[in-house]
Amino acid sequence: MTDLAVSTAATPLARQVERRRTFAIISHPDAGKTTLTEKLLMFGGAIQLAGQVRAKGERRRTRSDWMNIERERGISVVTSVMTFEYRDCVFNLLDTPGHEDFSEDTYRTLTAVDSAVMVIDAAKGIEERTRKLFEVCRLRDIPIVTFVNKMDRESRDPFEILDEIESTLALDVAPLTWPIGRGRDFAGTYELQTGRIRLVDSGDSISGTGMEALKGLVSADRLTEVTEELELAAGALKPFDLASFREGHQTPVFFGSALRNFGVRDLLDGLADLAPAPQGLDSDKRPVRPAEDRMTAFVFKVQANMDPNHRDRIAFVRLCSGKLRRGMKVLQTRTAKTIGLHAPQFFFAQDRALAEEAYAGDVVGIPNHGLLRIGDTLTEGEDISFLGVPSFAPEILRRVRLEDAMKAKKLKQALQELAEEGVVQVFRPLDGSPALVGVVGPLQLDVLTGRLAAEYGLEVGFEQSQYALARWVSGPEKDLQEFLNANRGNVAEDLDGDPVLLAGSAFQMTRAKERWEKVAFLDVKDVR
Ligand code: G4P
Repeated sequence: MTDLAVSTAATPLARQVERRRTFAIISHPDAGKTTLTEKLLMFGGAIQLAGQVRAKGERRRTRSDWMNIERERGISVVTSVMTFEYRDCVFNLLDTPGHEDFSEDTYRTLTAVDSAVMVIDAAKGIEERTRKLFEVCRLRDIPIVTFVNKMDRESRDPFEILDEIESTLALDVAPLTWPIGRGRDFAGTYELQTGRIRLVDSGDSISGTGMEALKGLVSADRLTEVTEELELAAGALKPFDLASFREGHQTPVFFGSALRNFGVRDLLDGLADLAPAPQGLDSDKRPVRPAEDRMTAFVFKVQANMDPNHRDRIAFVRLCSGKLRRGMKVLQTRTAKTIGLHAPQFFFAQDRALAEEAYAGDVVGIPNHGLLRIGDTLTEGEDISFLGVPSFAPEILRRVRLEDAMKAKKLKQALQELAEEGVVQVFRPLDGSPALVGVVGPLQLDVLTGRLAAEYGLEVGFEQSQYALARWVSGPEKDLQEFLNANRGNVAEDLDGDPVLLAGSAFQMTRAKERWEKVAFLDVKDVR
């Protein structure tokens, strides 16, 4: 990421870009992500972006078609991205799957955000998955806003929580609000910079300002406790520093209760005021700035659409610069094909609608028949590719066993399509032996089995393969070729035709590394 590219909104386009906030929520299961999302969307209230969607009649029709299909299939794609407006901002909230087996999907989604909200359970502090997701954010220095949730329940001392964030994540903390009491005695929050007091019983409204006002609002014991804590906090903690937050070194912290809808508005205001607008992004040829006139975008997620007969998919696209207009033609730089964007869509809480226009920072869904892949770059003609939508080396490699051998060709096609969607990875050994599927978590195999049966009529099982590890190999042309010739029996190609070394054990992999010093063995590949 390059610097914040829009500092003075000189043009109408720059003004549109500046009001975008594109973010994800990272948390451990059960911390309250779903509850918080619901409450955020409620504040979003009006879900129709003025002037960007079609006339009502058409919208309604479109919506009901989709709803029928969703009901029939019992699935929903609505959750991948949720766009809403609050104050003068357009928020794009990108959802990430809760289960760690789908972490690859989550990592890719995090390449498409400019900031993240970290939700922590006040009783549990930093949990395993939060820590892992945080590490991913840190790789890209994504600014993080922290929401300490469930303050209405038995919780830890706020200092202990802040200390844990600092020590386990090496991230400075700057509380912007302070909890008044906790657990059953959680009465509200005190805003550190302004002294504004909000009480749980009064919802969002401000009950008073400053310590004097607090005296009249809470019991003497509570007052003493809060006064002491605030003094301690003022002495021990660094004040909020916007630059440090934007660089990913410091996190502003809000305390609240998503369930009781308390502190959520503060969080949203915090995102509007502090979180960065869309950032510049590096391509293979040049940095791209969001307020550039020409549209650029990349695909970070592909999701099967509803109709299995048509293999319809929706590619989720993050706009990196310029303005998308419905009907425009764009270049898919991987294939040099021109694609017409006839039906780009916005996704709202319960609804979706044709996007007549969208701006850098926005995420739109583009229906297609398999043309668009994860990592694809779309431009108005310029031949550039965005970097950094990663693929991860699988933790599990399996051979697919087909119950009906006559369907081998169909299986090949099905695996290809599902791999393009990012459901699994497929590796085709150069020696012509049957393909292997690779996954990061075992649940992905369940999804694969289910979808092969439901969408392709294929009954499959999985067999252990002799391989345990896969690593992408790269290096100087001559060395790589030599390596590939010498290891043909253990090399496969991935979806893009890139070579992968398959090894039976970590020991074998290490030996290969020692022997082929000029060849790199990579466990992450940036898909272009
Ligand atoms: P997740 O998406 O992060 O997995 O969490 P989710 O929002 O589903 O919340 C997990 C549980 O925690 C839910 O309870 C939810 O009601 C509860 N919860 C979320 N926020 C708060 C909060 O601020 N305070 C309290 N006290 N509880 C909160 P559950 O019993 O698992 O589900 P449900 O039956 O209540 O829906």
